[in-house]
Amino acid sequence: MAAGTRDASDFVAGLPKCELHVHLEGTLEAAMADLLAERHGLPALGARPASFDGLADFLSRYYAAMAGLRTEQDFYDLAAAYLDVARRQGVTYAEMFFDPQAHTARGVPFEAVVRGLHRAQLDARASGGPDSALICCFLRDEPVESAAATLDASLEFKDWILGVGLDSDERGNPPVEFAPVFERARAAGYRLTMHCDPRQEGSVDHLWQCLEVVGVDRIDHGVECLADDRLVAELVRRRLGLTVCPLSNLRLYGDLMADAVSEMLRRDVLVTVNSDDPAYFGGYVADNFRAVADDAHLDRAALVRLARNGFEAAWLAPDRRAGYLQQVDDYAARV
Ligand code: ADE
Ligand code: ZN
Repeated sequence: MAAGTRDASDFVAGLPKCELHVHLEGTLEAAMADLLAERHGLPALGARPASFDGLADFLSRYYAAMAGLRTEQDFYDLAAAYLDVARRQGVTYAEMFFDPQAHTARGVPFEAVVRGLHRAQLDARASGGPDSALICCFLRDEPVESAAATLDASLEFKDWILGVGLDSDERGNPPVEFAPVFERARAAGYRLTMHCDPRQEGSVDHLWQCLEVVGVDRIDHGVECLADDRLVAELVRRRLGLTVCPLSNLRLYGDLMADAVSEMLRRDVLVTVNSDDPAYFGGYVADNFRAVADDAHLDRAALVRLARNGFEAAWLAPDRRAGYLQQVDDYAARV
């Protein structure tokens, strides 16, 4: 039976959740963007619209707002603020993207970015969580050589970085172009994920490239898989996680795509719910769970399944995964 809106909302609040698709730069709230601008003597950077005219429109504003992120302390403040909100939203573990090229291109050292983020992770871990890991994303609308140089720069901090991802504008920038960089990343010990955003030209093709050419360990978004039954069957066979972001879908494409989440659950796809760029899309991870529950009339069992899927799709060692899953099951049994 579908949970009532109030009941689902309360249930979601306490449900232990895993977040696998959040861009730390996308957690830059307008107030903090303005504060950082003031810190560095820049004009105000916080203004942002309620919705966007697709991915490219969003990305241009997203990169512009980052101008105030300059020092290690700025990156510390950014990640500390996200981890604080995430804890309050019931996140117990997060794997978080960052976009080094968006900063190194402005003269910010890679080291300042990663040291600031890492310090915030340590502080959060020591003070009530959540625990977290970093995923270094390459910008697919920058040259492959720039991704390769970013991979090289990351290696000095390999112990602090769990995986690599591919984000930014997908149009004309297919996964296959980055296959050699990702092959090298895998050899260095990183886990691999790539964005396959909704409503992109060649979406299904890009998804197949992720599977067959790159051999990713997870896919970000990926809702277009439902257009190809063979692809769905392969995702299920591999138990490959898809990190779907409902409020992002709503703000970028005018559609939560909650029915797609429902259908994936029904077809046994390892679908997870995430926030993407919460400071831009109107909600953090619990808000995304609530939006889907409401729109697709999900019952408690489906919400528990979504929470479990998050930890199943995370790049966790077996004992830690089991511990997080037990917390979900204990909550479900108790509440
Ligand atoms: N970078 C930040 N958010 C993104 C998204 N939703 N898609 C692609 N690249 C991104
Ligand atoms: Zn994303």
